[in-house]
Amino acid sequence: MENADIIESLTGVSKERKKSRLPAKLDFYQSATGVFLGLFMWAHMILVSSILLGNNAMYDVTKMFEGKFLFGEGYPVIVSIAVFIVFVIFILHAGLAMRKFPDNYKQYKNFKTNMNLLQHDDTKYWFIQAYTGFAMFFLGSIHLYTMMVQSDKIGPYASSDRIVSGWYWPLYILLLLAVEFHGAIGLYRVSVKWGWFDGKNPRETRANLKKAKKVVTVIFLTLGVLSLAAYIKIGIGHEGRVGQMYTPTSSISIQYNQNKKVA
Ligand code: HEM
Repeated sequence: MENADIIESLTGVSKERKKSRLPAKLDFYQSATGVFLGLFMWAHMILVSSILLGNNAMYDVTKMFEGKFLFGEGYPVIVSIAVFIVFVIFILHAGLAMRKFPDNYKQYKNFKTNMNLLQHDDTKYWFIQAYTGFAMFFLGSIHLYTMMVQSDKIGPYASSDRIVSGWYWPLYILLLLAVEFHGAIGLYRVSVKWGWFDGKNPRETRANLKKAKKVVTVIFLTLGVLSLAAYIKIGIGHEGRVGQMYTPTSSISIQYNQNKKVA
């Protein structure tokens, strides 16, 4: 070990009497990975909710991400690679955020007492972030690992089978709650922290951002609950045929078959 490292570890300043820039850099990376994941989750929820438009819509979305429009057929490995990348960013974000967790009872008590004395929303939000973030370590990892190794089993029937017959619905209810609160609070906090929308009156902006955060949470929670309900309904109806993949029906072919029956 270098002497410089020993000096800095004991005094908190380097040989050149400078404080390290590393904590600030890590803060930046924490925000950057968080913003990526927050925006990703908005897109993800819109894509997952394609099931509300019908089985064909969700099937088309799945095939699009498998690259069917480019290669003529779907390659689930493309989804596995995308999940791997998101998983790495997810782990990096969790690792960076963990630095801020209170690491003993005294620190925890200190924070909680201050929070109760201050009665300040943004301080309370940090507390919610720590709890929902902790829950996502486990819940999010299970989901991401499953998506990575079972990317060939995504679709209107396969996803619904996993949710109902594979017992993923309790995990998704908890994950949905954790991710929607965490994501919206995170994006709010990061825009306040870096002053992105400060404008002429930061105080007023903050109040507006807080309202926007609430609206976003309600919209995405509603979308998530409705989508989950749709997958559950399909999964219950498909219990006798678990494992069978969906084959798309175009409205034209339905029309054709119906006409044939009549004739
Ligand atoms: C590229 C990465 C990801 C892919 C490909 C993916 C894919 C999917 C798919 C296909 C579903 C439908 C259910 C199923 O098939 O099991 C789903 C649901 C869900 N995912 Fe992801 N996901 C990804 C990342 C994430 C992340 C990072 C989170 C949060 C940490 C997350 C949270 C959820 C939740 C909460 C649901 C349930 C949604 C509902 O209420 O209907 N996903 N995801």
